[in-house]
Amino acid sequence: MEHEIYKAVDQNPNMKNYDETVKNFSWDDIEKNFSWSETGKVNIAYEAIDRHVDEGYGDKVALHYRDDNGTRSFTFKEMKEFSNKAANVFKAHDIKKGDRVFIFMPRSPELYFALLGAVKIGAIVGPLFEAFMEKAVSDRLTDSEAQAVVTTTDLLPRIPVADIDTLEHVFVVGDHEEGDKIVDFTQEIEKATDELEIEWVDREDGLILHYTSGSTGAPKGVLHVHNVMVQQFISAKYVLDMKEDDVYWCTADPGWVTGTAYGIFGPWLNRVTNVVVGGRFSPDAWYGALQDLKVTIWYSAPTAFRMLMGAGDEEVKKYDLSNLRHMLSVGEPLNPEVIKWADKVFNLRIHDTWWMTETGAHMIVNFPSMDIKAGAMGKPLPGIEASIIDDNGNELPPMRMGNLAMKAPWPAMMRQIWGNREKYESYFIGDWYVSGDSAYVDDDGYFFFQGRVDDVIMTAGERVGPFEIESKLIEHEAVQEAGVIGKPDPIRGEIVKAFIALREGYEPTDELKEEIRNFVKLGLAAHAAPREIEFKDKLPKTRSGKIMRRVLKAWELNLDAGDLSSMDND
Ligand code: WT7
Repeated sequence: MEHEIYKAVDQNPNMKNYDETVKNFSWDDIEKNFSWSETGKVNIAYEAIDRHVDEGYGDKVALHYRDDNGTRSFTFKEMKEFSNKAANVFKAHDIKKGDRVFIFMPRSPELYFALLGAVKIGAIVGPLFEAFMEKAVSDRLTDSEAQAVVTTTDLLPRIPVADIDTLEHVFVVGDHEEGDKIVDFTQEIEKATDELEIEWVDREDGLILHYTSGSTGAPKGVLHVHNVMVQQFISAKYVLDMKEDDVYWCTADPGWVTGTAYGIFGPWLNRVTNVVVGGRFSPDAWYGALQDLKVTIWYSAPTAFRMLMGAGDEEVKKYDLSNLRHMLSVGEPLNPEVIKWADKVFNLRIHDTWWMTETGAHMIVNFPSMDIKAGAMGKPLPGIEASIIDDNGNELPPMRMGNLAMKAPWPAMMRQIWGNREKYESYFIGDWYVSGDSAYVDDDGYFFFQGRVDDVIMTAGERVGPFEIESKLIEHEAVQEAGVIGKPDPIRGEIVKAFIALREGYEPTDELKEEIRNFVKLGLAAHAAPREIEFKDKLPKTRSGKIMRRVLKAWELNLDAGDLSSMDND
Protein backbone atom coordinates (compact mmCIF):
# COMPACT_ATOMS: atom_id res chain seq x y z
CA MET A 1 0.00 0.00 0.00
CA GLU A 2 1.27 3.48 -0.85
CA HIS A 3 1.13 6.09 1.89
CA GLU A 4 1.60 9.77 1.44
CA ILE A 5 4.91 10.83 3.01
CA TYR A 6 5.40 14.07 4.89
CA LYS A 7 9.10 14.77 5.17
CA ALA A 8 10.69 15.89 8.41
CA VAL A 9 11.66 19.52 8.21
CA ASP A 10 14.81 20.79 9.89
CA GLN A 11 13.73 22.35 13.14
CA ASN A 12 16.42 21.17 15.52
CA PRO A 13 14.27 18.77 17.53
CA ASN A 14 15.28 17.47 20.97
CA MET A 15 15.72 14.04 19.49
CA LYS A 16 17.92 14.43 16.42
CA ASN A 17 18.12 10.88 15.14
CA TYR A 18 15.70 8.09 15.92
CA ASP A 19 17.88 5.07 15.14
CA GLU A 20 20.87 6.47 17.03
CA THR A 21 18.76 7.30 20.07
CA VAL A 22 17.18 3.86 20.13
CA LYS A 23 20.60 2.24 19.93
CA ASN A 24 22.09 4.22 22.82
CA PHE A 25 18.98 4.48 24.97
CA SER A 26 18.84 3.37 28.59
CA TRP A 27 16.10 4.07 31.13
CA ASP A 28 18.77 4.32 33.83
CA ASP A 29 20.12 7.43 32.18
CA ILE A 30 16.70 9.07 32.23
CA GLU A 31 16.12 8.14 35.85
CA LYS A 32 19.20 10.14 36.81
CA ASN A 33 17.10 13.27 36.27
CA PHE A 34 15.14 12.60 39.44
CA SER A 35 15.81 12.81 43.16
CA TRP A 36 15.61 9.14 44.01
CA SER A 37 18.86 8.51 42.22
CA GLU A 38 20.38 10.38 45.19
CA THR A 39 17.90 10.14 48.06
CA GLY A 40 15.99 6.95 47.27
CA LYS A 41 12.75 8.91 47.63
CA VAL A 42 10.75 11.06 45.28
CA ASN A 43 7.44 12.84 44.69
CA ILE A 44 6.25 13.63 41.18
CA ALA A 45 4.57 16.86 42.35
CA TYR A 46 7.93 18.07 43.67
CA GLU A 47 9.65 17.21 40.38
CA ALA A 48 6.88 18.94 38.41
CA ILE A 49 6.56 22.15 40.43
CA ASP A 50 8.66 22.83 43.56
CA ARG A 51 11.92 21.71 42.02
CA HIS A 52 11.76 24.50 39.46
CA VAL A 53 11.33 27.06 42.23
CA ASP A 54 14.36 25.60 44.03
CA GLU A 55 16.35 25.80 40.79
CA GLY A 56 15.56 29.49 40.24
CA TYR A 57 12.55 29.40 37.91
CA GLY A 58 9.92 30.46 40.48
CA ASP A 59 8.85 33.47 38.42
CA LYS A 60 8.32 31.58 35.20
CA VAL A 61 4.66 31.12 34.21
CA ALA A 62 3.61 27.53 34.82
CA LEU A 63 -0.08 27.82 33.97
CA HIS A 64 -2.22 30.01 31.75
CA TYR A 65 -5.81 29.19 32.55
CA ARG A 66 -8.24 30.65 30.02
CA ASP A 67 -12.00 30.62 29.74
CA ASP A 68 -14.82 33.00 28.77
CA ASN A 69 -13.83 35.29 31.65
CA GLY A 70 -10.29 35.78 30.39
CA THR A 71 -6.88 34.38 31.32
CA ARG A 72 -5.41 33.87 34.78
CA SER A 73 -1.71 33.05 34.96
CA PHE A 74 0.27 31.39 37.74
CA THR A 75 4.03 31.12 38.18
CA PHE A 76 5.77 27.97 39.40
CA LYS A 77 6.12 29.71 42.78
CA GLU A 78 2.37 30.35 42.93
CA MET A 79 1.61 26.80 41.87
CA LYS A 80 3.87 25.59 44.66
CA GLU A 81 2.16 27.78 47.23
CA PHE A 82 -1.40 27.00 46.22
CA SER A 83 -0.78 23.28 46.01
CA ASN A 84 0.92 23.42 49.42
CA LYS A 85 -2.17 25.11 50.84
CA ALA A 86 -4.40 22.43 49.34
CA ALA A 87 -2.10 19.76 50.77
CA ASN A 88 -2.35 21.35 54.20
CA VAL A 89 -6.15 21.35 54.05
CA PHE A 90 -6.12 17.63 53.25
CA LYS A 91 -3.66 17.01 56.07
CA ALA A 92 -5.74 18.96 58.54
CA HIS A 93 -8.61 16.59 57.76
CA ASP A 94 -6.45 13.57 58.25
CA ILE A 95 -6.13 12.45 54.66
CA LYS A 96 -3.11 10.19 54.54
CA LYS A 97 -0.64 8.61 52.19
CA GLY A 98 -2.35 5.99 50.02
CA ASP A 99 -5.87 7.39 50.58
CA ARG A 100 -7.98 7.84 47.45
CA VAL A 101 -8.82 11.47 46.81
CA PHE A 102 -11.10 12.05 43.84
CA ILE A 103 -11.10 15.29 41.92
CA PHE A 104 -14.54 15.83 40.43
CA MET A 105 -14.71 19.29 38.94
CA PRO A 106 -14.58 21.21 35.69
CA ARG A 107 -11.26 22.58 34.54
CA SER A 108 -10.16 25.50 36.72
CA PRO A 109 -6.89 26.48 38.42
CA GLU A 110 -8.29 25.01 41.66
CA LEU A 111 -8.48 21.59 40.03
CA TYR A 112 -4.72 21.67 39.45
CA PHE A 113 -3.94 22.97 42.97
CA ALA A 114 -6.11 20.25 44.51
CA LEU A 115 -4.66 17.46 42.39
CA LEU A 116 -1.05 18.46 43.03
CA GLY A 117 -1.81 19.07 46.72
CA ALA A 118 -3.20 15.58 47.13
CA VAL A 119 -0.14 14.10 45.39
CA LYS A 120 2.16 16.08 47.69
CA ILE A 121 0.76 14.31 50.74
CA GLY A 122 1.18 10.93 49.05
CA ALA A 123 -2.52 10.37 48.36
CA ILE A 124 -3.69 8.55 45.24
CA VAL A 125 -5.70 10.94 43.08
CA GLY A 126 -8.69 9.88 41.02
CA PRO A 127 -9.70 12.45 38.42
CA LEU A 128 -13.34 12.22 37.35
CA PHE A 129 -14.72 13.77 34.19
CA GLU A 130 -17.17 16.56 35.04
CA ALA A 131 -19.90 15.09 32.82
CA PHE A 132 -20.29 12.00 35.01
CA MET A 133 -23.67 11.62 36.63
CA GLU A 134 -24.42 10.01 39.97
CA LYS A 135 -24.15 6.36 38.93
CA ALA A 136 -20.79 6.79 37.21
CA VAL A 137 -19.42 8.72 40.20
CA SER A 138 -20.80 6.26 42.71
CA ASP A 139 -19.38 3.19 40.91
CA ARG A 140 -15.89 4.66 40.93
CA LEU A 141 -15.89 5.88 44.53
CA THR A 142 -17.27 2.57 45.72
CA ASP A 143 -14.84 0.42 43.74
CA SER A 144 -11.80 2.33 44.99
CA GLU A 145 -13.11 2.78 48.56
CA ALA A 146 -12.50 6.51 48.33
CA GLN A 147 -11.79 8.63 51.40
CA ALA A 148 -12.34 12.06 49.86
CA VAL A 149 -13.69 13.99 46.90
CA VAL A 150 -12.95 17.54 45.85
CA THR A 151 -15.84 19.05 43.94
CA THR A 152 -17.83 22.20 43.16
CA THR A 153 -21.22 23.56 44.20
CA ASP A 154 -22.79 22.42 40.93
CA LEU A 155 -21.44 18.88 40.99
CA LEU A 156 -21.96 18.18 44.70
CA PRO A 157 -25.52 16.80 44.21
CA ARG A 158 -24.09 14.00 42.05
CA ILE A 159 -22.05 12.58 44.92
CA PRO A 160 -24.02 10.02 46.92
CA VAL A 161 -22.23 11.05 50.11
CA ALA A 162 -24.28 8.94 52.52
CA ASP A 163 -24.04 5.77 50.42
CA ILE A 164 -20.26 5.48 50.33
CA ASP A 165 -19.12 4.09 53.66
CA THR A 166 -15.45 4.86 53.29
CA LEU A 167 -16.00 8.49 52.33
CA GLU A 168 -14.79 10.80 55.08
CA HIS A 169 -14.81 14.24 53.48
CA VAL A 170 -16.20 16.11 50.52
CA PHE A 171 -14.24 19.30 49.88
CA VAL A 172 -16.37 21.85 48.08
CA VAL A 173 -15.16 24.79 46.02
CA GLY A 174 -17.87 27.48 46.11
CA ASP A 175 -21.07 28.04 48.08
CA HIS A 176 -22.88 25.08 49.56
CA GLU A 177 -25.20 24.04 52.33
CA GLU A 178 -23.76 22.82 55.59
CA GLY A 179 -23.71 19.05 55.80
CA ASP A 180 -22.19 15.98 57.31
CA LYS A 181 -18.68 15.38 55.86
CA ILE A 182 -18.84 18.63 53.85
CA VAL A 183 -15.78 20.89 54.07
CA ASP A 184 -15.54 24.39 52.59
CA PHE A 185 -12.39 24.03 50.49
CA THR A 186 -12.25 27.67 49.38
CA GLN A 187 -12.36 29.05 52.92
CA GLU A 188 -9.90 26.53 54.30
CA ILE A 189 -7.42 27.17 51.49
CA GLU A 190 -7.50 30.86 52.33
CA LYS A 191 -6.60 30.11 55.93
CA ALA A 192 -4.03 27.38 55.26
CA THR A 193 -0.29 28.02 55.32
CA ASP A 194 1.76 27.65 52.17
CA GLU A 195 4.63 25.92 53.95
CA LEU A 196 4.60 22.15 53.56
CA GLU A 197 6.80 19.19 54.37
CA ILE A 198 6.25 17.09 51.24
CA GLU A 199 5.58 13.38 51.67
CA TRP A 200 8.58 11.65 50.09
CA VAL A 201 7.44 8.37 48.62
CA ASP A 202 8.91 5.34 46.90
CA ARG A 203 8.80 5.36 43.13
CA GLU A 204 6.46 2.36 43.26
CA ASP A 205 3.94 4.09 45.55
CA GLY A 206 0.48 4.81 44.12
CA LEU A 207 -0.06 8.11 42.32
CA ILE A 208 -3.18 8.13 40.20
CA LEU A 209 -6.21 6.02 39.46
CA HIS A 210 -7.85 6.43 36.05
CA TYR A 211 -11.06 4.54 35.48
CA THR A 212 -11.44 3.22 31.98
CA SER A 213 -13.93 1.06 30.16
CA GLY A 214 -13.48 -2.41 28.80
CA SER A 215 -15.95 -4.40 26.73
CA THR A 216 -17.28 -6.35 29.68
CA GLY A 217 -17.82 -5.58 33.32
CA ALA A 218 -17.76 -2.30 35.19
CA PRO A 219 -15.12 0.35 34.48
CA LYS A 220 -11.77 -0.63 35.92
CA GLY A 221 -9.34 1.42 37.98
CA VAL A 222 -5.95 1.61 36.28
CA LEU A 223 -3.33 2.42 38.91
CA HIS A 224 -0.14 4.28 38.08
CA VAL A 225 2.76 4.94 40.44
CA HIS A 226 5.19 7.85 40.81
CA ASN A 227 7.63 6.05 38.51
CA VAL A 228 5.50 7.16 35.50
CA MET A 229 7.52 10.36 35.65
CA VAL A 230 10.46 8.70 33.91
CA GLN A 231 8.57 7.98 30.72
CA GLN A 232 6.22 10.98 30.86
CA PHE A 233 9.23 13.26 31.14
CA ILE A 234 11.23 11.79 28.29
CA SER A 235 8.27 11.34 25.92
CA ALA A 236 7.17 14.94 26.49
CA LYS A 237 10.73 15.98 25.70
CA TYR A 238 11.28 13.83 22.61
CA VAL A 239 7.79 13.52 21.17
CA LEU A 240 6.08 16.74 22.23
CA ASP A 241 9.54 18.28 21.69
CA MET A 242 9.35 20.62 24.69
CA LYS A 243 11.96 23.32 25.06
CA GLU A 244 12.61 26.22 27.41
CA ASP A 245 10.48 28.86 25.66
CA ASP A 246 7.55 26.72 24.62
CA VAL A 247 3.93 27.47 25.38
CA TYR A 248 2.15 24.15 25.27
CA TRP A 249 -1.55 23.34 25.06
CA CYS A 250 -3.03 19.88 25.55
CA THR A 251 -6.75 20.06 24.92
CA ALA A 252 -7.66 16.91 26.89
CA ASP A 253 -9.58 17.04 30.16
CA PRO A 254 -7.74 15.70 33.23
CA GLY A 255 -10.64 13.27 33.69
CA TRP A 256 -8.86 11.22 31.01
CA VAL A 257 -5.27 10.06 31.12
CA THR A 258 -4.06 12.39 28.36
CA GLY A 259 -5.16 15.34 30.49
CA THR A 260 -2.96 14.25 33.39
CA ALA A 261 0.02 12.53 31.73
CA TYR A 262 0.38 15.28 29.11
CA GLY A 263 -1.86 17.99 30.59
CA ILE A 264 -0.04 18.09 33.96
CA PHE A 265 3.03 15.94 34.45
CA GLY A 266 4.70 15.83 31.02
CA PRO A 267 4.83 19.60 30.51
CA TRP A 268 5.69 20.53 34.09
CA LEU A 269 8.37 17.87 34.45
CA ASN A 270 9.89 19.67 31.44
CA ARG A 271 9.35 23.09 33.02
CA VAL A 272 7.31 24.53 30.16
CA THR A 273 4.40 26.97 30.30
CA ASN A 274 1.20 24.96 30.23
CA VAL A 275 -2.09 26.22 28.79
CA VAL A 276 -5.48 25.01 30.04
CA VAL A 277 -8.64 26.13 28.28
CA GLY A 278 -11.94 25.72 30.12
CA GLY A 279 -15.45 26.07 28.76
CA ARG A 280 -16.95 24.59 25.64
CA PHE A 281 -15.34 23.87 22.30
CA SER A 282 -15.81 26.34 19.49
CA PRO A 283 -13.47 27.09 16.59
CA ASP A 284 -13.24 30.74 17.69
CA ALA A 285 -12.45 29.87 21.29
CA TRP A 286 -9.76 27.43 20.18
CA TYR A 287 -8.09 29.48 17.47
CA GLY A 288 -8.36 32.47 19.81
CA ALA A 289 -6.49 30.60 22.53
CA LEU A 290 -3.77 29.51 20.10
CA GLN A 291 -3.31 33.08 18.92
CA ASP A 292 -3.63 35.06 22.15
CA LEU A 293 -1.48 32.77 24.30
CA LYS A 294 1.06 32.33 21.50
CA VAL A 295 0.88 28.55 21.71
CA THR A 296 3.89 26.80 20.16
CA ILE A 297 3.01 23.12 20.76
CA TRP A 298 -0.53 21.83 20.41
CA TYR A 299 -1.66 18.33 21.39
CA SER A 300 -5.24 17.41 20.49
CA ALA A 301 -7.38 14.66 18.96
CA PRO A 302 -8.65 13.68 15.50
CA THR A 303 -12.24 14.40 16.47
CA ALA A 304 -11.35 18.01 17.35
CA PHE A 305 -9.30 18.43 14.19
CA ARG A 306 -12.21 17.15 12.13
CA MET A 307 -14.56 19.65 13.77
CA LEU A 308 -12.14 22.48 13.04
CA MET A 309 -11.78 21.22 9.51
CA GLY A 310 -15.56 21.32 9.20
CA ALA A 311 -15.59 24.96 10.32
CA GLY A 312 -13.71 25.85 7.13
CA ASP A 313 -10.29 27.22 6.19
CA GLU A 314 -11.49 30.84 6.14
CA GLU A 315 -11.94 30.59 9.90
CA VAL A 316 -8.23 29.86 10.37
CA LYS A 317 -7.15 32.84 8.33
CA LYS A 318 -8.75 35.23 10.81
CA TYR A 319 -6.08 34.35 13.36
CA ASP A 320 -2.36 34.82 13.67
CA LEU A 321 -1.08 31.34 14.45
CA SER A 322 2.51 32.05 13.52
CA ASN A 323 3.87 30.86 16.88
CA LEU A 324 2.57 27.35 16.39
CA ARG A 325 5.44 25.01 15.44
CA HIS A 326 4.43 21.49 16.47
CA MET A 327 1.09 19.63 16.28
CA LEU A 328 0.19 16.22 17.68
CA SER A 329 -2.79 13.93 17.92
CA VAL A 330 -3.95 11.03 20.07
CA GLY A 331 -6.94 8.87 20.89
CA GLU A 332 -8.17 7.42 17.62
CA PRO A 333 -6.94 6.84 14.10
CA LEU A 334 -5.69 10.05 12.53
CA ASN A 335 -7.17 10.20 9.04
CA PRO A 336 -4.76 11.01 6.19
CA GLU A 337 -7.36 13.60 5.16
CA VAL A 338 -6.80 15.50 8.41
CA ILE A 339 -3.01 15.43 8.01
CA LYS A 340 -3.44 16.85 4.53
CA TRP A 341 -5.69 19.62 5.85
CA ALA A 342 -3.21 20.64 8.57
CA ASP A 343 -0.39 20.62 6.06
CA LYS A 344 -2.41 23.02 3.92
CA VAL A 345 -3.84 25.42 6.51
CA PHE A 346 -1.12 25.46 9.19
CA ASN A 347 1.78 24.35 7.05
CA LEU A 348 2.53 21.81 9.80
CA ARG A 349 2.52 18.06 10.07
CA ILE A 350 0.27 16.43 12.65
CA HIS A 351 2.26 13.85 14.60
CA ASP A 352 0.10 10.90 15.59
CA THR A 353 0.79 9.22 18.94
CA TRP A 354 -0.52 5.88 20.18
CA TRP A 355 -0.85 4.82 23.80
CA MET A 356 -3.52 3.84 26.32
CA THR A 357 -4.62 4.57 29.86
CA GLU A 358 -2.90 1.33 30.84
CA THR A 359 0.44 2.18 29.22
CA GLY A 360 0.71 5.43 31.20
CA ALA A 361 2.68 7.25 28.53
CA HIS A 362 3.45 7.30 24.80
CA MET A 363 4.36 3.96 23.23
CA ILE A 364 4.22 4.38 19.45
CA VAL A 365 4.69 7.82 18.01
CA ASN A 366 5.84 10.07 15.21
CA PHE A 367 8.90 12.11 16.12
CA PRO A 368 9.66 15.55 14.70
CA SER A 369 12.88 14.16 13.22
CA MET A 370 11.07 11.39 11.37
CA ASP A 371 9.27 11.18 8.04
CA ILE A 372 5.54 10.68 8.59
CA LYS A 373 3.59 8.14 6.60
CA ALA A 374 -0.03 9.28 6.57
CA GLY A 375 -2.13 6.62 8.27
CA ALA A 376 0.70 5.27 10.45
CA MET A 377 0.91 5.68 14.22
CA GLY A 378 4.69 5.88 14.00
CA LYS A 379 7.44 3.88 15.67
CA PRO A 380 8.09 2.73 19.25
CA LEU A 381 9.42 5.18 21.81
CA PRO A 382 13.11 4.43 22.49
CA GLY A 383 13.26 1.89 25.31
CA ILE A 384 9.97 0.29 24.25
CA GLU A 385 9.84 -3.03 22.45
CA ALA A 386 6.63 -3.28 20.44
CA SER A 387 5.54 -6.06 18.13
CA ILE A 388 2.63 -7.77 16.45
CA ILE A 389 1.82 -11.16 17.94
CA ASP A 390 -0.72 -13.90 17.32
CA ASP A 391 -3.09 -15.15 20.01
CA ASN A 392 -0.44 -17.53 21.34
CA GLY A 393 2.22 -14.88 21.81
CA ASN A 394 4.24 -15.66 18.66
CA GLU A 395 5.68 -12.65 16.87
CA LEU A 396 4.41 -12.11 13.34
CA PRO A 397 6.48 -10.86 10.39
CA PRO A 398 5.93 -7.43 8.79
CA MET A 399 2.67 -6.80 6.94
CA ARG A 400 0.77 -9.42 8.94
CA MET A 401 -2.14 -8.19 11.00
CA GLY A 402 -2.31 -9.30 14.63
CA ASN A 403 -2.36 -8.12 18.24
CA LEU A 404 -0.43 -4.95 18.98
CA ALA A 405 1.74 -5.87 21.97
CA MET A 406 4.65 -4.58 24.04
CA LYS A 407 7.30 -6.32 26.14
CA ALA A 408 6.49 -5.74 29.81
CA PRO A 409 7.42 -3.97 31.94
CA TRP A 410 8.23 -0.37 30.99
CA PRO A 411 8.50 2.59 33.40
CA ALA A 412 4.96 3.98 32.99
CA MET A 413 3.13 0.67 32.79
CA MET A 414 0.07 0.33 35.04
CA ARG A 415 0.86 -1.54 38.24
CA GLN A 416 -2.63 -2.75 39.14
CA ILE A 417 -6.22 -2.90 38.13
CA TRP A 418 -7.67 -1.74 41.43
CA GLY A 419 -8.84 -4.71 43.46
CA ASN A 420 -8.82 -7.07 40.49
CA ARG A 421 -5.70 -9.14 40.03
CA GLU A 422 -7.32 -11.47 37.56
CA LYS A 423 -8.27 -8.61 35.25
CA TYR A 424 -4.72 -7.26 35.45
CA GLU A 425 -3.26 -10.62 34.55
CA SER A 426 -5.64 -11.03 31.63
CA TYR A 427 -3.72 -8.31 29.76
CA PHE A 428 -0.62 -10.48 29.41
CA ILE A 429 0.49 -13.41 27.28
CA GLY A 430 3.81 -14.42 28.79
CA ASP A 431 5.72 -11.16 29.11
CA TRP A 432 3.80 -9.51 26.28
CA TYR A 433 1.29 -6.85 27.25
CA VAL A 434 -1.57 -7.23 24.75
CA SER A 435 -3.21 -3.92 23.93
CA GLY A 436 -6.60 -4.99 22.60
CA ASP A 437 -5.84 -3.23 19.31
CA SER A 438 -5.01 -4.96 16.06
CA ALA A 439 -2.28 -3.56 13.85
CA TYR A 440 0.52 -4.43 11.47
CA VAL A 441 4.09 -3.21 10.94
CA ASP A 442 5.40 -2.32 7.52
CA ASP A 443 8.88 -3.10 6.20
CA ASP A 444 10.21 0.24 7.45
CA GLY A 445 9.04 -0.41 11.02
CA TYR A 446 5.99 1.86 10.99
CA PHE A 447 2.93 0.63 12.91
CA PHE A 448 -0.53 0.83 11.32
CA PHE A 449 -3.68 0.73 13.45
CA GLN A 450 -6.41 -1.62 12.20
CA GLY A 451 -9.09 -1.61 14.90
CA ARG A 452 -10.06 -2.72 18.37
CA VAL A 453 -10.09 -6.45 18.96
CA ASP A 454 -12.92 -6.10 21.48
CA ASP A 455 -16.16 -4.10 21.38
CA VAL A 456 -14.87 -0.95 23.08
CA ILE A 457 -16.26 2.20 21.46
CA MET A 458 -14.10 5.24 20.74
CA THR A 459 -16.37 8.25 20.42
CA ALA A 460 -14.91 11.73 20.03
CA GLY A 461 -11.66 10.37 21.43
CA GLU A 462 -13.27 8.95 24.55
CA ARG A 463 -13.38 5.29 25.35
CA VAL A 464 -16.80 4.06 26.37
CA GLY A 465 -17.65 0.54 27.31
CA PRO A 466 -20.82 -0.88 25.78
CA PHE A 467 -21.51 -2.87 28.92
CA GLU A 468 -21.85 0.18 31.14
CA ILE A 469 -24.35 1.73 28.73
CA GLU A 470 -26.29 -1.50 28.25
CA SER A 471 -26.56 -1.85 32.02
CA LYS A 472 -27.96 1.64 32.29
CA LEU A 473 -30.37 1.11 29.41
CA ILE A 474 -31.99 -1.93 30.95
CA GLU A 475 -32.68 0.07 34.08
CA HIS A 476 -35.25 1.96 32.01
CA GLU A 477 -38.73 0.55 32.52
CA ALA A 478 -39.42 0.16 28.80
CA VAL A 479 -36.22 -1.70 27.98
CA GLN A 480 -36.19 -5.47 27.93
CA GLU A 481 -32.76 -5.93 26.38
CA ALA A 482 -30.12 -3.68 24.93
CA GLY A 483 -27.02 -4.13 22.80
CA VAL A 484 -24.63 -1.25 22.17
CA ILE A 485 -22.09 -0.81 19.41
CA GLY A 486 -19.88 1.89 17.92
CA LYS A 487 -21.15 3.03 14.53
CA PRO A 488 -18.59 4.69 12.22
CA ASP A 489 -19.07 8.46 12.06
CA PRO A 490 -17.16 10.97 9.94
CA ILE A 491 -16.68 13.51 12.76
CA ARG A 492 -16.64 11.55 15.98
CA GLY A 493 -14.87 8.43 14.74
CA GLU A 494 -17.67 6.37 16.18
CA ILE A 495 -21.03 7.18 17.73
CA VAL A 496 -22.84 5.13 20.32
CA LYS A 497 -25.71 3.18 18.78
CA ALA A 498 -28.14 1.11 20.85
CA PHE A 499 -30.33 -1.74 19.67
CA ILE A 500 -33.23 -2.19 22.04
CA ALA A 501 -35.94 -4.79 22.49
CA LEU A 502 -38.90 -3.30 24.36
CA ARG A 503 -40.95 -4.82 27.12
CA GLU A 504 -44.54 -5.86 26.46
CA GLY A 505 -46.88 -2.94 26.25
CA TYR A 506 -44.38 -0.30 25.06
CA GLU A 507 -44.69 1.33 21.64
CA PRO A 508 -41.50 2.00 19.62
CA THR A 509 -41.97 5.76 19.21
CA ASP A 510 -39.55 8.62 18.63
CA GLU A 511 -40.62 10.13 21.96
CA LEU A 512 -39.57 6.94 23.70
CA LYS A 513 -36.18 7.05 21.95
CA GLU A 514 -35.68 10.58 23.20
CA GLU A 515 -36.74 9.61 26.71
CA ILE A 516 -34.32 6.65 26.79
CA ARG A 517 -31.50 8.78 25.44
CA ASN A 518 -32.07 11.33 28.21
CA PHE A 519 -32.24 8.58 30.78
CA VAL A 520 -28.66 7.57 29.94
CA LYS A 521 -27.51 11.14 29.62
CA LEU A 522 -28.76 12.04 33.09
CA GLY A 523 -27.97 8.71 34.70
CA LEU A 524 -24.51 8.04 33.30
CA ALA A 525 -22.92 10.72 31.16
CA ALA A 526 -23.79 12.75 28.07
CA HIS A 527 -21.05 11.20 25.93
CA ALA A 528 -22.36 7.73 26.76
CA ALA A 529 -25.94 8.44 25.64
CA PRO A 530 -26.78 6.64 22.38
CA ARG A 531 -26.97 9.12 19.50
CA GLU A 532 -28.91 6.48 17.60
CA ILE A 533 -31.47 4.03 18.88
CA GLU A 534 -33.05 1.26 16.85
CA PHE A 535 -35.88 -0.88 18.20
CA LYS A 536 -35.86 -4.60 17.43
CA ASP A 537 -38.24 -7.37 18.38
CA LYS A 538 -35.38 -9.52 19.56
CA LEU A 539 -31.60 -9.20 19.95
CA PRO A 540 -29.06 -11.79 18.80
CA LYS A 541 -27.71 -13.71 21.78
CA THR A 542 -25.41 -16.60 22.51
CA ARG A 543 -26.84 -19.65 24.19
CA SER A 544 -25.34 -18.43 27.42
CA GLY A 545 -27.36 -15.25 27.01
CA LYS A 546 -24.63 -12.81 25.98
CA ILE A 547 -25.75 -10.19 23.49
CA MET A 548 -23.75 -10.68 20.29
CA ARG A 549 -22.52 -7.19 19.52
CA ARG A 550 -20.61 -8.57 16.55
CA VAL A 551 -23.92 -9.46 14.92
CA LEU A 552 -25.39 -6.05 15.70
CA LYS A 553 -22.38 -4.49 14.06
CA ALA A 554 -22.77 -6.68 11.01
CA TRP A 555 -26.44 -5.65 10.76
CA GLU A 556 -25.43 -2.04 10.96
CA LEU A 557 -22.72 -2.26 8.35
CA ASN A 558 -24.43 -4.79 6.08
CA LEU A 559 -21.62 -7.25 6.59
CA ASP A 560 -21.47 -10.98 6.91
CA ALA A 561 -21.75 -11.73 10.65
CA GLY A 562 -19.28 -14.60 10.46
CA ASP A 563 -19.48 -17.72 12.57
CA LEU A 564 -22.92 -17.84 14.21
CA SER A 565 -22.54 -21.28 15.75
CA SER A 566 -22.87 -19.94 19.29
CA MET A 567 -26.04 -18.00 18.49
CA ASP A 568 -29.29 -18.94 20.18
CA ASN A 569 -31.86 -19.23 17.42
CA ASP A 570 -35.13 -19.95 19.13
C1 WT7 B 1 -7.34 3.20 22.96
C2 WT7 B 1 -6.92 3.63 24.32
C3 WT7 B 1 -4.14 7.53 26.06
C4 WT7 B 1 -4.60 8.00 24.77
C5 WT7 B 1 -6.06 8.40 24.79
C6 WT7 B 1 -7.02 7.23 24.72
C7 WT7 B 1 -7.19 4.06 20.80
C8 WT7 B 1 -5.29 5.71 21.10
C9 WT7 B 1 -4.65 5.99 19.05
C10 WT7 B 1 -4.07 6.31 17.78
C11 WT7 B 1 -5.57 4.81 16.77
C12 WT7 B 1 -5.72 5.06 19.05
C13 WT7 B 1 -6.76 2.61 20.79
C14 WT7 B 1 -6.33 2.39 22.24
N1 WT7 B 1 -6.10 4.93 20.34
N2 WT7 B 1 -4.43 6.37 20.32
N3 WT7 B 1 -3.05 7.18 17.69
N4 WT7 B 1 -4.56 5.69 16.67
N5 WT7 B 1 -6.17 4.48 17.92
O1 WT7 B 1 -6.75 6.38 25.80
O2 WT7 B 1 -9.06 5.82 26.57
O3 WT7 B 1 -7.08 4.41 27.24
O4 WT7 B 1 -7.97 4.38 24.89
O5 WT7 B 1 -7.50 4.38 22.16
O6 WT7 B 1 -7.85 1.79 20.48
O7 WT7 B 1 -6.38 1.03 22.62
P1 WT7 B 1 -7.74 5.25 26.20
